[in-house]
Amino acid sequence: MNYEDFKKQILLLTTIDLNAYKENQMKRRIGAIIKKNQCEGYEDYLRLLKNNKTSLQDFITYLTINVTEFFRNPSQWDILEKQIFPLLLQKKRTIKIWSAACSTGDEPYSLAMVLSQFLPLHQISILATDLDLEVLEKAKKGQYIARNLTNIPKEFRDKYITEKNGLFTINDTLKQCITFKQHDLLKDPYPSNMDLIVCRNVMIYFTEEAKKEIYLHFHKAMAEDGILFVGSTEQIIMCQDYGLEPYKIFFYQKKGVKR
Ligand SMILES: C[S@@+](CC[C@H](N)C(=O)[O-])C[C@H]1O[C@@H](n2cnc3c(N)ncnc32)[C@H](O)[C@@H]1O
Repeated sequence: MNYEDFKKQILLLTTIDLNAYKENQMKRRIGAIIKKNQCEGYEDYLRLLKNNKTSLQDFITYLTINVTEFFRNPSQWDILEKQIFPLLLQKKRTIKIWSAACSTGDEPYSLAMVLSQFLPLHQISILATDLDLEVLEKAKKGQYIARNLTNIPKEFRDKYITEKNGLFTINDTLKQCITFKQHDLLKDPYPSNMDLIVCRNVMIYFTEEAKKEIYLHFHKAMAEDGILFVGSTEQIIMCQDYGLEPYKIFFYQKKGVKR
């Protein structure tokens, strides 16, 4: 079995379309997990995935690269707090936020913490999505170890996190601000009228064609003057082609209609 056939089988088995992910990187990663499982090659590994649910979930989790952290790249969160939220709240009393590819929830919880300085918690509603059901379960639980909390400002830790036996849990009051849902950026319908879309550190894994499609979908999903917040290696070249204008570094604003 070659890589092309493997991709087709994975699509049937998981609905994940590997065609949209950068090929060299994927092949390298899949090669490594095949080796780790002591399989002979694609066919042998596929047999394992079909017969063993745990191996299949491990494969999905490995493939989707769930690395994340609270307040990842703190200086960008500073811009979000000092410039982006004030801008968005100038015209609206409440804002619609989508944290796309949210992994274990560190990002949407960080968003809720910052926004709680501007709005009462009951007015905050954040949609947080990811492809991987396993990380979404962790996100809903909202339980973390001390190492995960390093970047969280003390005032937020004191207010929104409770420690018990070395485990740190997000308080229900903050959890209630967030709706976690499975969503595949490559094939599911997008939400609409978002004032802020936060999509960071996932576009790097996609092919150029897949990225173009996603940016166009984001443009449609954004409210007029809405903001897209991207990862620190994910600046959008030719952003005007997607109806986006640079607002600050790593922040783009929807302006006008797509050309
Ligand atoms: C490296 S994490 C980034 C998490 C967070 N946004 C951050 O910047 O810290 C990438 C996430 O993208 C998710 N992902 C990968 N492919 C996806 C897809 N097609 N649709 C939605 N999420 C996807 C993975 O499951 C993973 O949780």
